[in-house]
Amino acid sequence: MSPVTACLLALLTVGFLVVEHNAQRIQEVEADVMAVEEAERGTSVSDKITQLTQDMETCVDNEDRDCFMAFFDDNIRIMREHQPVQIGKTEARKHTKWILHDFDATLEIKEITPSTDGSIVVERLELTMQFPNGTFIFNGKLLFVWKKVINDYKVYIDISNDN
Ligand SMILES: *[C@@H]1O[C@H](CO)[C@@H](O)[C@H](O)[C@H]1NC(C)=O
Repeated sequence: MSPVTACLLALLTVGFLVVEHNAQRIQEVEADVMAVEEAERGTSVSDKITQLTQDMETCVDNEDRDCFMAFFDDNIRIMREHQPVQIGKTEARKHTKWILHDFDATLEIKEITPSTDGSIVVERLELTMQFPNGTFIFNGKLLFVWKKVINDYKVYIDISNDN
């Protein structure tokens, strides 16, 4: 091998190693960016659902049925204890007269788990409803499955049962 060829080969090898190293570095950086984006998405979805839950609680405490219904998807499925499934907002609305009573509702979030793409969010809560004199009307478990609708989330499945 001539010194010139050897020199060229050495340069090529170094060049290849540099390119390979850079490609690997770029992949690592891309993976980091994706991890950060995913974490941020998870946080922002949780914040959004927390806010929606607080707003919903306010609607119930204000005995405002329309305000409460606005959180439901048009194709909502409501599954209450000892009752058949209620499908659709019109059907669901018929069963919301309880909101008109004067009581204090507390929605305590226990868990918020968004799907990887954020299109579905599972939220587990404790729900209590008490008359002003402290008597419990409901003290139980609640599960919301939120569905992403454009840039908002709507409750698609609502399951609850009394303790
Ligand atoms: C509390 O208020 C509710 C609703 O007015 C009533 O039905 C219940 O009997 C009251 N409980 C007590 C312990 O006074």
